[in-house]
Amino acid sequence: MQNAPYILAIESSCDDTSAAVLIGNKVLSNEVASQGVHEAFGGVVPELASRAHQQHIVPVVDRALKVANIKPHELHAIAFTNGPGLLGSLLVGTSFAKSMALALNIPLIPVHHMHAHVLAHLIDGAHETPISFPFLCLTVSGGHTQIVEVQSVNSMTVLGETIDDAVGEAFDKAAKILGLPYPGGPHIDRLAKLGNPTFMSFNKSDLPDYNYSFSGMKTSFLYALQKEMKRNPNFIKDHLNDICASYQSALIKVLMKKVEAAQKFTNISNFAIAGGVSANSGLREALTVWGAKNDIAIYLPPFQYTTDNAAMIGVAGYYQYLDGVNAPLSTSAQAKIKF
Ligand code: KG4
Ligand code: ZN
Repeated sequence: MQNAPYILAIESSCDDTSAAVLIGNKVLSNEVASQGVHEAFGGVVPELASRAHQQHIVPVVDRALKVANIKPHELHAIAFTNGPGLLGSLLVGTSFAKSMALALNIPLIPVHHMHAHVLAHLIDGAHETPISFPFLCLTVSGGHTQIVEVQSVNSMTVLGETIDDAVGEAFDKAAKILGLPYPGGPHIDRLAKLGNPTFMSFNKSDLPDYNYSFSGMKTSFLYALQKEMKRNPNFIKDHLNDICASYQSALIKVLMKKVEAAQKFTNISNFAIAGGVSANSGLREALTVWGAKNDIAIYLPPFQYTTDNAAMIGVAGYYQYLDGVNAPLSTSAQAKIKF
Protein backbone atom coordinates (compact mmCIF):
# COMPACT_ATOMS: atom_id res chain seq x y z
CA MET A 1 0.00 0.00 0.00
CA GLN A 2 3.02 2.32 -0.11
CA ASN A 3 1.85 4.41 -3.05
CA ALA A 4 -1.84 4.23 -2.21
CA PRO A 5 -3.57 7.56 -1.57
CA TYR A 6 -4.62 8.86 1.82
CA ILE A 7 -8.33 9.65 1.66
CA LEU A 8 -10.42 11.51 4.20
CA ALA A 9 -14.05 10.40 4.03
CA ILE A 10 -17.11 12.13 5.47
CA GLU A 11 -20.59 10.71 6.01
CA SER A 12 -23.52 12.84 7.22
CA SER A 13 -26.59 11.57 5.35
CA CYS A 14 -28.83 10.85 8.33
CA ASP A 15 -28.14 10.97 12.07
CA ASP A 16 -24.53 9.77 12.33
CA THR A 17 -21.63 12.15 11.78
CA SER A 18 -18.68 10.07 10.70
CA ALA A 19 -15.16 10.67 9.39
CA ALA A 20 -12.57 8.11 8.34
CA VAL A 21 -9.05 8.09 6.99
CA LEU A 22 -8.03 5.34 4.58
CA ILE A 23 -4.88 4.46 2.76
CA GLY A 24 -6.19 2.83 -0.40
CA ASN A 25 -8.92 0.46 0.80
CA LYS A 26 -7.33 0.03 4.24
CA VAL A 27 -9.05 1.84 7.10
CA LEU A 28 -6.76 3.80 9.44
CA SER A 29 -9.55 5.41 11.46
CA ASN A 30 -13.35 5.37 11.42
CA GLU A 31 -14.93 7.75 13.94
CA VAL A 32 -18.69 7.95 14.42
CA ALA A 33 -20.66 10.45 16.54
CA SER A 34 -24.25 9.29 16.93
CA GLN A 35 -27.06 11.67 17.85
CA GLY A 36 -28.92 10.77 21.03
CA VAL A 37 -31.10 13.87 20.58
CA HIS A 38 -33.64 11.92 18.44
CA GLU A 39 -34.39 9.27 21.05
CA ALA A 40 -37.02 11.39 22.79
CA PHE A 41 -38.90 11.76 19.49
CA GLY A 42 -38.85 8.09 18.45
CA GLY A 43 -37.34 8.95 15.06
CA VAL A 44 -34.88 11.26 13.34
CA VAL A 45 -35.90 14.96 13.45
CA PRO A 46 -34.24 16.45 10.32
CA GLU A 47 -33.66 19.94 11.73
CA LEU A 48 -32.08 18.57 14.92
CA ALA A 49 -29.96 16.18 12.84
CA SER A 50 -28.40 18.95 10.75
CA ARG A 51 -27.70 21.06 13.85
CA ALA A 52 -26.01 18.10 15.56
CA HIS A 53 -23.92 17.45 12.42
CA GLN A 54 -22.72 21.06 12.60
CA GLN A 55 -21.64 20.53 16.21
CA HIS A 56 -19.94 17.18 15.51
CA ILE A 57 -18.25 17.60 12.15
CA VAL A 58 -15.10 19.47 13.22
CA PRO A 59 -14.29 17.31 16.29
CA VAL A 60 -15.08 14.07 14.43
CA VAL A 61 -12.82 14.93 11.46
CA ASP A 62 -10.13 16.06 13.89
CA ARG A 63 -10.35 12.75 15.77
CA ALA A 64 -10.24 10.71 12.56
CA LEU A 65 -7.03 12.47 11.48
CA LYS A 66 -5.45 12.11 14.92
CA VAL A 67 -6.29 8.41 15.27
CA ALA A 68 -4.87 7.79 11.76
CA ASN A 69 -1.87 9.96 12.63
CA ILE A 70 -2.25 11.87 9.38
CA LYS A 71 -1.89 15.63 8.90
CA PRO A 72 -4.32 17.40 6.52
CA HIS A 73 -1.52 18.26 4.05
CA GLU A 74 -0.78 14.51 3.66
CA LEU A 75 -4.28 13.81 2.27
CA HIS A 76 -4.68 13.06 -1.45
CA ALA A 77 -8.49 13.42 -1.73
CA ILE A 78 -11.70 14.03 0.18
CA ALA A 79 -14.67 11.72 -0.35
CA PHE A 80 -18.11 12.61 1.00
CA THR A 81 -21.71 11.40 0.80
CA ASN A 82 -23.63 13.63 -1.58
CA GLY A 83 -26.89 11.61 -1.35
CA PRO A 84 -29.37 10.12 -0.90
CA GLY A 85 -30.33 11.30 2.58
CA LEU A 86 -31.73 14.22 4.56
CA LEU A 87 -30.85 17.39 2.70
CA GLY A 88 -29.95 19.47 5.77
CA SER A 89 -27.70 16.67 7.05
CA LEU A 90 -26.02 16.10 3.68
CA LEU A 91 -25.35 19.82 3.31
CA VAL A 92 -23.17 19.87 6.43
CA GLY A 93 -20.85 17.12 5.18
CA THR A 94 -20.90 18.43 1.63
CA SER A 95 -19.98 22.01 2.60
CA PHE A 96 -17.26 20.78 4.93
CA ALA A 97 -15.75 18.45 2.30
CA LYS A 98 -15.82 21.15 -0.37
CA SER A 99 -14.15 23.73 1.87
CA MET A 100 -11.41 21.33 2.93
CA ALA A 101 -10.74 20.10 -0.64
CA LEU A 102 -10.53 23.72 -1.78
CA ALA A 103 -8.20 24.70 1.05
CA LEU A 104 -5.91 21.70 0.44
CA ASN A 105 -6.28 21.84 -3.35
CA ILE A 106 -6.99 18.11 -3.64
CA PRO A 107 -9.70 16.12 -5.50
CA LEU A 108 -13.26 16.17 -4.23
CA ILE A 109 -15.10 12.85 -4.64
CA PRO A 110 -18.90 12.60 -4.26
CA VAL A 111 -20.12 9.17 -3.14
CA HIS A 112 -23.56 7.59 -3.43
CA HIS A 113 -24.51 6.41 0.05
CA MET A 114 -26.07 3.15 -1.18
CA HIS A 115 -23.10 2.27 -3.38
CA ALA A 116 -20.92 2.79 -0.33
CA HIS A 117 -22.94 0.33 1.81
CA VAL A 118 -22.30 -2.31 -0.87
CA LEU A 119 -18.63 -1.43 -1.38
CA ALA A 120 -17.94 -1.69 2.36
CA HIS A 121 -17.36 -5.36 1.52
CA LEU A 122 -14.19 -4.34 -0.35
CA ILE A 123 -12.56 -2.77 2.72
CA ASP A 124 -9.23 -4.44 3.36
CA GLY A 125 -9.74 -7.09 6.05
CA ALA A 126 -13.56 -7.00 5.91
CA HIS A 127 -13.53 -10.72 5.12
CA GLU A 128 -11.02 -13.49 5.67
CA THR A 129 -11.41 -14.43 2.01
CA PRO A 130 -11.93 -11.24 0.00
CA ILE A 131 -15.26 -11.06 -1.81
CA SER A 132 -15.13 -11.56 -5.58
CA PHE A 133 -17.34 -10.27 -8.40
CA PRO A 134 -20.05 -10.80 -9.33
CA PHE A 135 -21.99 -10.81 -6.08
CA LEU A 136 -25.52 -10.08 -4.96
CA CYS A 137 -26.04 -7.68 -2.07
CA LEU A 138 -29.13 -7.27 0.08
CA THR A 139 -28.89 -3.69 1.37
CA VAL A 140 -31.18 -3.25 4.35
CA SER A 141 -31.25 -0.01 6.31
CA GLY A 142 -33.56 2.53 7.88
CA GLY A 143 -34.15 4.18 4.51
CA HIS A 144 -33.64 1.42 1.94
CA THR A 145 -34.24 -2.22 1.12
CA GLN A 146 -32.67 -3.33 -2.14
CA ILE A 147 -31.31 -6.42 -3.83
CA VAL A 148 -28.36 -5.30 -5.92
CA GLU A 149 -26.44 -7.24 -8.55
CA VAL A 150 -22.81 -6.12 -8.33
CA GLN A 151 -20.77 -6.87 -11.45
CA SER A 152 -17.84 -4.63 -10.56
CA VAL A 153 -16.99 -1.55 -8.49
CA ASN A 154 -18.60 0.66 -11.15
CA SER A 155 -21.42 -1.56 -12.31
CA MET A 156 -24.34 -2.26 -10.02
CA THR A 157 -27.99 -2.92 -10.90
CA VAL A 158 -30.93 -2.85 -8.51
CA LEU A 159 -32.90 -6.07 -9.13
CA GLY A 160 -35.63 -5.25 -6.63
CA GLU A 161 -36.46 -2.82 -3.83
CA THR A 162 -39.15 -1.77 -1.42
CA ILE A 163 -42.06 0.14 -2.88
CA ASP A 164 -42.90 1.74 0.49
CA ASP A 165 -41.21 1.39 3.93
CA ALA A 166 -37.67 0.12 4.37
CA VAL A 167 -37.23 -2.95 6.54
CA GLY A 168 -35.32 -0.89 9.14
CA GLU A 169 -38.37 1.37 9.37
CA ALA A 170 -40.56 -1.72 9.85
CA PHE A 171 -38.33 -2.70 12.80
CA ASP A 172 -38.24 0.82 14.25
CA LYS A 173 -41.97 1.53 13.94
CA ALA A 174 -42.91 -1.78 15.55
CA ALA A 175 -40.40 -1.08 18.34
CA LYS A 176 -42.05 2.30 18.92
CA ILE A 177 -45.46 0.61 19.27
CA LEU A 178 -43.88 -1.74 21.83
CA GLY A 179 -42.48 1.23 23.78
CA LEU A 180 -38.84 0.35 23.01
CA PRO A 181 -36.20 3.10 22.57
CA TYR A 182 -35.21 4.47 19.15
CA PRO A 183 -33.73 3.02 17.01
CA GLY A 184 -35.69 -0.09 17.84
CA GLY A 185 -34.11 -2.62 15.44
CA PRO A 186 -31.29 -3.67 17.81
CA HIS A 187 -33.74 -3.92 20.74
CA ILE A 188 -36.10 -6.21 18.81
CA ASP A 189 -33.09 -8.29 17.78
CA ARG A 190 -31.95 -8.63 21.40
CA LEU A 191 -35.40 -9.55 22.78
CA ALA A 192 -36.21 -11.86 19.86
CA LYS A 193 -33.39 -14.16 20.96
CA LEU A 194 -35.37 -14.86 24.15
CA GLY A 195 -38.76 -15.44 22.52
CA ASN A 196 -40.79 -17.92 20.48
CA PRO A 197 -40.89 -17.01 16.76
CA THR A 198 -44.10 -18.99 16.18
CA PHE A 199 -46.04 -17.22 18.96
CA MET A 200 -47.95 -14.87 16.59
CA SER A 201 -48.31 -14.44 12.86
CA PHE A 202 -48.73 -11.35 10.70
CA ASN A 203 -49.95 -10.72 7.15
CA LYS A 204 -47.02 -10.72 4.78
CA SER A 205 -47.08 -8.97 1.45
CA ASP A 206 -45.67 -10.67 -1.60
CA LEU A 207 -45.04 -8.47 -4.63
CA PRO A 208 -44.09 -9.70 -8.09
CA ASP A 209 -40.42 -9.98 -9.07
CA TYR A 210 -37.84 -9.01 -6.43
CA ASN A 211 -39.66 -6.07 -4.86
CA TYR A 212 -40.68 -5.68 -1.26
CA SER A 213 -43.48 -3.97 0.66
CA PHE A 214 -43.34 -3.56 4.44
CA SER A 215 -46.02 -0.98 5.22
CA GLY A 216 -48.79 -3.63 5.37
CA MET A 217 -46.83 -5.74 7.84
CA LYS A 218 -46.42 -2.81 10.16
CA THR A 219 -50.21 -2.21 10.07
CA SER A 220 -50.88 -5.92 10.59
CA PHE A 221 -48.55 -5.81 13.60
CA LEU A 222 -50.45 -2.88 15.09
CA TYR A 223 -53.90 -4.47 14.55
CA ALA A 224 -52.80 -7.85 15.92
CA LEU A 225 -51.55 -6.18 19.11
CA GLN A 226 -54.66 -4.02 19.47
CA LYS A 227 -56.83 -7.13 19.20
CA GLU A 228 -54.84 -8.99 21.84
CA MET A 229 -54.79 -5.99 24.15
CA LYS A 230 -58.59 -5.87 24.21
CA ARG A 231 -58.43 -9.28 25.91
CA ASN A 232 -55.31 -8.60 27.98
CA PRO A 233 -54.23 -4.96 28.47
CA ASN A 234 -50.81 -6.24 29.61
CA PHE A 235 -50.32 -8.34 26.48
CA ILE A 236 -47.18 -6.46 25.35
CA LYS A 237 -45.56 -6.61 28.76
CA ASP A 238 -46.47 -10.27 29.29
CA HIS A 239 -45.20 -11.45 25.89
CA LEU A 240 -42.62 -8.89 24.76
CA ASN A 241 -39.93 -11.43 23.81
CA ASP A 242 -42.38 -13.65 21.90
CA ILE A 243 -43.83 -10.65 20.02
CA CYS A 244 -40.34 -9.51 18.99
CA ALA A 245 -39.31 -13.02 17.94
CA SER A 246 -42.48 -13.50 15.87
CA TYR A 247 -42.25 -10.13 14.14
CA GLN A 248 -38.54 -10.43 13.40
CA SER A 249 -39.07 -13.93 12.04
CA ALA A 250 -41.87 -12.64 9.75
CA LEU A 251 -39.66 -9.82 8.41
CA ILE A 252 -36.80 -12.23 7.76
CA LYS A 253 -39.09 -14.68 5.92
CA VAL A 254 -40.17 -11.84 3.61
CA LEU A 255 -36.55 -10.78 3.02
CA MET A 256 -35.37 -14.33 2.39
CA LYS A 257 -38.09 -15.18 -0.14
CA LYS A 258 -36.85 -12.55 -2.60
CA VAL A 259 -33.21 -13.22 -1.77
CA GLU A 260 -33.69 -16.86 -2.78
CA ALA A 261 -35.61 -15.93 -5.93
CA ALA A 262 -33.00 -13.35 -7.02
CA GLN A 263 -30.18 -15.84 -6.43
CA LYS A 264 -31.97 -18.52 -8.48
CA PHE A 265 -32.62 -16.02 -11.29
CA THR A 266 -29.03 -14.75 -11.51
CA ASN A 267 -27.30 -17.97 -10.43
CA ILE A 268 -24.67 -15.81 -8.68
CA SER A 269 -23.14 -17.76 -5.82
CA ASN A 270 -21.62 -14.92 -3.76
CA PHE A 271 -24.12 -13.22 -1.49
CA ALA A 272 -23.51 -10.19 0.77
CA ILE A 273 -25.65 -8.09 3.08
CA ALA A 274 -25.15 -4.44 3.97
CA GLY A 275 -26.76 -1.56 5.89
CA GLY A 276 -27.89 -1.17 9.48
CA VAL A 277 -30.25 -4.16 9.49
CA SER A 278 -27.41 -6.42 8.31
CA ALA A 279 -26.36 -6.42 11.99
CA ASN A 280 -29.51 -8.43 12.77
CA SER A 281 -28.60 -11.79 14.24
CA GLY A 282 -31.72 -13.57 12.93
CA LEU A 283 -31.07 -12.40 9.38
CA ARG A 284 -27.40 -13.39 9.63
CA GLU A 285 -28.37 -16.85 10.81
CA ALA A 286 -31.05 -17.33 8.13
CA LEU A 287 -28.56 -16.37 5.41
CA THR A 288 -25.83 -18.56 6.83
CA VAL A 289 -28.13 -21.62 6.96
CA TRP A 290 -29.41 -20.95 3.42
CA GLY A 291 -25.88 -20.44 2.09
CA ALA A 292 -24.61 -23.68 3.64
CA LYS A 293 -27.54 -25.66 2.20
CA ASN A 294 -27.20 -24.24 -1.30
CA ASP A 295 -23.45 -23.84 -1.63
CA ILE A 296 -23.64 -20.05 -1.70
CA ALA A 297 -20.80 -18.08 -0.12
CA ILE A 298 -22.29 -15.63 2.40
CA TYR A 299 -20.46 -12.39 3.23
CA LEU A 300 -21.56 -10.80 6.50
CA PRO A 301 -20.03 -7.36 7.09
CA PRO A 302 -18.10 -6.65 10.31
CA PHE A 303 -20.45 -4.81 12.69
CA GLN A 304 -18.59 -1.47 12.48
CA TYR A 305 -19.41 -1.32 8.75
CA THR A 306 -23.13 -2.18 9.00
CA THR A 307 -24.65 1.08 10.26
CA ASP A 308 -23.69 4.39 8.66
CA ASN A 309 -19.95 5.02 8.75
CA ALA A 310 -17.38 6.98 6.77
CA ALA A 311 -15.04 4.03 6.13
CA MET A 312 -17.48 2.75 3.50
CA ILE A 313 -17.57 6.22 1.91
CA GLY A 314 -13.77 6.15 1.88
CA VAL A 315 -13.50 2.81 0.08
CA ALA A 316 -16.08 3.87 -2.52
CA GLY A 317 -14.15 7.15 -2.89
CA TYR A 318 -10.87 5.29 -3.32
CA TYR A 319 -12.11 3.43 -6.42
CA GLN A 320 -13.37 6.71 -7.90
CA TYR A 321 -10.00 8.29 -7.13
CA LEU A 322 -8.34 5.53 -9.17
CA ASP A 323 -10.66 6.53 -12.05
CA GLY A 324 -9.49 10.15 -11.75
CA VAL A 325 -12.73 11.60 -10.38
CA ASN A 326 -12.43 15.22 -9.22
CA ALA A 327 -15.84 16.88 -8.85
CA PRO A 328 -16.27 20.62 -9.35
CA LEU A 329 -17.02 22.82 -6.35
CA SER A 330 -20.51 23.33 -7.79
CA THR A 331 -21.32 19.70 -6.83
CA SER A 332 -24.33 19.74 -4.53
CA ALA A 333 -25.97 17.52 -1.96
CA GLN A 334 -29.02 15.69 -3.28
CA ALA A 335 -31.72 14.21 -1.05
CA LYS A 336 -32.81 11.91 -3.87
CA ILE A 337 -30.23 10.61 -6.27
CA LYS A 338 -30.38 7.96 -8.98
CA PHE A 339 -28.74 4.63 -8.08
O1 KG4 B 1 -27.69 1.95 7.62
P1 KG4 B 1 -28.25 2.66 8.81
O2 KG4 B 1 -27.32 3.01 9.94
O3 KG4 B 1 -28.90 4.03 8.41
C1 KG4 B 1 -29.62 4.25 7.26
O4 KG4 B 1 -28.98 4.53 6.22
O5 KG4 B 1 -30.85 4.08 7.38
O6 KG4 B 1 -29.46 1.77 9.33
C2 KG4 B 1 -30.20 2.10 10.47
C3 KG4 B 1 -31.28 1.04 10.67
C4 KG4 B 1 -32.27 1.39 11.77
O7 KG4 B 1 -33.57 1.17 11.25
C5 KG4 B 1 -31.95 0.37 12.87
O8 KG4 B 1 -33.04 0.03 13.68
C6 KG4 B 1 -31.49 -0.80 12.06
O9 KG4 B 1 -30.69 -0.23 11.04
N1 KG4 B 1 -30.70 -1.77 12.83
C7 KG4 B 1 -31.14 -3.03 13.11
C8 KG4 B 1 -30.13 -3.65 13.88
N2 KG4 B 1 -29.11 -2.75 14.06
C9 KG4 B 1 -29.47 -1.60 13.39
N3 KG4 B 1 -32.27 -3.66 12.77
C10 KG4 B 1 -32.44 -4.93 13.19
N4 KG4 B 1 -31.53 -5.58 13.94
C11 KG4 B 1 -30.38 -4.99 14.32
N5 KG4 B 1 -29.48 -5.66 15.06
ZN1 ZN C 1 -27.10 3.90 5.41
